[in-house]
Amino acid sequence: MVSQENRVFYLYSVFLLCFFTFFINGGLAQSPVFACDVGNDSFGFCNSSLEIGLRVDDLVKRLTLQEKIGFLVNKAGAVTRLGIPSYEWWSEALHGVSYVGPGTRFSSVVPGATSFPQVILTAASFNVSLFIAIGKVVSTEARAMHNVGLAGLTFWSPNINIFRDPRWGRGQETPGEDPLLSSKYGSGYVKGLQQTESDDPNRLKVAACCKHYTAYDLDNWKGVDRYHFNAVVTKQDMDDTYQPPFKSCVIDGNVASVMCSYNKVNGVPTCAGPDLLAGVIRDKWELNGYIVTDCDSIDVMYNSQHYTKTPEEAAAISILAGVDLNCGSFLGQHTGAAVKAGLLTEAPIDRAISNNFATLFRLGFFDGNPSTQLYGKLGPKDVCTPANQELALEAARQGIVLLKNSKGSLPLSPTKIKSLAVIGPNANVTKTMIGNYEGTPCKYTTPLQGLTAYVQTVYSPGCANVACKTAQVDGAKKVASEADATVIIVGDDLSIEAESLDRIDLYLPGQQQLLITQVANASKGPVILVIMSGGGMEVSFAKDDPKIISILWVGYPGEAGGAAIADVIFGYFNPCGRLPMTWYPQEFVEKVPMTNMNMRPDPATGYPGRSYRFYAGKTVYAFGDGLSYSKFNHRLAKAPPTQVSVPLDERHVCHSQLCESLELSDNHCENLAFDVHLSVKNVGEMSGGHTVFLYSSPPSVHNAPKKHLLGFEKIYLASQGEELVKFIVDVCKDLSVVDEVGRKKVGLGLHVLHVGDLKHSFYVMV
Ligand SMILES: *[C@@H]1O[C@H](CO)[C@@H](O)[C@H](O)[C@H]1NC(C)=O
Ligand SMILES: *[C@@H]1O[C@H](CO)[C@@H](O)[C@H](O)[C@H]1NC(C)=O
Ligand SMILES: *[C@@H]1O[C@H](CO)[C@@H](O)[C@H](O)[C@H]1NC(C)=O
Ligand SMILES: *[C@@H]1O[C@H](CO)[C@@H](O)[C@H](O)[C@H]1NC(C)=O
Ligand SMILES: *[C@@H]1O[C@H](CO)[C@@H](O)[C@H](O)[C@H]1NC(C)=O
Repeated sequence: MVSQENRVFYLYSVFLLCFFTFFINGGLAQSPVFACDVGNDSFGFCNSSLEIGLRVDDLVKRLTLQEKIGFLVNKAGAVTRLGIPSYEWWSEALHGVSYVGPGTRFSSVVPGATSFPQVILTAASFNVSLFIAIGKVVSTEARAMHNVGLAGLTFWSPNINIFRDPRWGRGQETPGEDPLLSSKYGSGYVKGLQQTESDDPNRLKVAACCKHYTAYDLDNWKGVDRYHFNAVVTKQDMDDTYQPPFKSCVIDGNVASVMCSYNKVNGVPTCAGPDLLAGVIRDKWELNGYIVTDCDSIDVMYNSQHYTKTPEEAAAISILAGVDLNCGSFLGQHTGAAVKAGLLTEAPIDRAISNNFATLFRLGFFDGNPSTQLYGKLGPKDVCTPANQELALEAARQGIVLLKNSKGSLPLSPTKIKSLAVIGPNANVTKTMIGNYEGTPCKYTTPLQGLTAYVQTVYSPGCANVACKTAQVDGAKKVASEADATVIIVGDDLSIEAESLDRIDLYLPGQQQLLITQVANASKGPVILVIMSGGGMEVSFAKDDPKIISILWVGYPGEAGGAAIADVIFGYFNPCGRLPMTWYPQEFVEKVPMTNMNMRPDPATGYPGRSYRFYAGKTVYAFGDGLSYSKFNHRLAKAPPTQVSVPLDERHVCHSQLCESLELSDNHCENLAFDVHLSVKNVGEMSGGHTVFLYSSPPSVHNAPKKHLLGFEKIYLASQGEELVKFIVDVCKDLSVVDEVGRKKVGLGLHVLHVGDLKHSFYVMV
């Protein structure tokens, strides 16, 4: 028997124990949110043997208008009488599960997640299998965190905007400047995140989101910010540069969501344009999912852009344009009044929440407790596993780009180097390595730690931080003058390039350049320059400095970046990354306003154009640049015939009249393809990875790009190994260009295929 007093004491202890458990778990809930728990499972929408469409309809018809409006915002409302808890839509997983966004947190239960390299470096690997593999690991860790109540199921990643201008602070988040690479990255990463083991396209492991639709690539430059910027974009640039990654993300990646951006495009806020939203994403590309606004684009539309007279109009116009979900609270506040004012009926609201609900159904949110479901057994033990962390290291190795390597320089010999001087503001950084939209990583290996694992090091940062107002040159010079070799690790961090922070110039910040040249001059041994940055840098001085024998670009290499850098420097890994964007000289940004969206050059004004597809001026380093410790030779094993004829109807005008291009209909495109086979041989002494780039230069009609990437393939070859790489070139798809009004055309005349130094010319004719 327990006395009254003891009972009180007992209860008090239980209370303390609960409190203590709550406390050591970081005060966070331990169970995931879900609907249709036992007791609530008699509702039709809870019946998982019914089709999702029927379940959605059943749910929507049970809701009042006010309840429906609660499902238009990221912090979705709860409906207790139906057993539906509040759901937070906003989670992020750009390159690992992130704490940005209120839907995801770390706690003592899951203190960190695998932090992969920032996307621009992963893109440099040009390895589509790697993009997918990273997505799979991230979604596994996300599900594991969801199961213990620490993460949502809807992740607003990836960012697939074209990296149009080197100054853009968010360029680091993107896969670079090329529409094909961006498309392959976006659809690959999305598949990795979303696909379940059942491969049923109607089930989702987690829901991804391709953002920011569209022509969004300016944050804050000389007083112009993303909330006020009107991107003036030609139809042609829209269709062959800005839109292709989104199209591929929806069609090839089958993404569950697209996010509209803050900026206007040709005068219309992207979240208010029915043509670009409902017209293109929903109707033309047939998005299976929801359209979400940036946070909070509708508020920006009303309060900053003054696009509508009243907030009710802004609410109505966005929903009618195709918006389903509002990141923010604007629709929660103003949609009811918009209906009352007659600006909106209930039908488009039903459409919007139906798209949102359908996504949650596909995720299993309405299937009861996840512990009984497909991913229900995942938990903290599945986060930061050795295999996952190894993939983060592997991704950094595969992305690192060797830009300069004077004969016989790298790799350094770990036995001959007895002491290594390690210099520079980024030499021993942790958080800098993971860039933005980061999470808490499992652990860090800094460059200094990575290098010290192989040889004895002496460290002298030379600058207090990347801003490097005053370089402390003397100490660094002394260390370099005594060591057998010197590694200088410099570059940017989020204080220089970030969201809401575009760069003004392309130089290394502050006195970094001074530090480098002085240390290089004072060094006893070879000098290796390592640049950590998202955007390209004006480093012509280092390229031309004979004392600097090697230059590496390492992006923001993720939690294991330091180990990857050391592996490359000491030859435990043969570098194989290639630049996914042009490195322009400083004079480019002095001449070109960041606000000019045109990709194509304009001889009348001297505007030089953008990206390797159009810009013909001087570069510091070019798109696709990247060296190996080996040498790879290409041989054309099978090429297209020198003439490719397009079979046209006898009455076609181009039989009687000279045409410069053809608009091909679908029936022409069948069987109008040919093989290109390349034999690639590693003629060097080290085994290694190598990316084969197949470019095409079309005839110069319709302001076509001077060349564009038609395909790429990453292979791995042992020394003296040889492999046949096969491409299928589809005349309609791969050789066409977009004309001035956005139509696909195939130029008639001479086309040239390029692979490395190899060229093959052929005519396309009628
Ligand atoms: C679920 O739906 C199926 C198919 O219509 C039906 O046979 C079954 O009785 C339903 N289950 C419940 C619990 O209502
Ligand atoms: C649904 O679950 C909630 C919360 O557990 C409960 O309050 C409610 O009564 C349940 N409704 C039904 C119809 O079982
Ligand atoms: C390098 O950074 C690590 C991690 O922040 C820190 O523990 C270590 O003390 C630093 N090393 C030096 C020599 O400053
Ligand atoms: C390089 O160092 C030498 C002395 O070792 C000095 O005479 C020379 O001025 C230095 N050059 C530069 C460019 O700093
Ligand atoms: C591409 O990445 C995958 C996944 O990490 C890896 O297994 C494969 O070896 C890589 N390919 C090359 C050629 O490096």
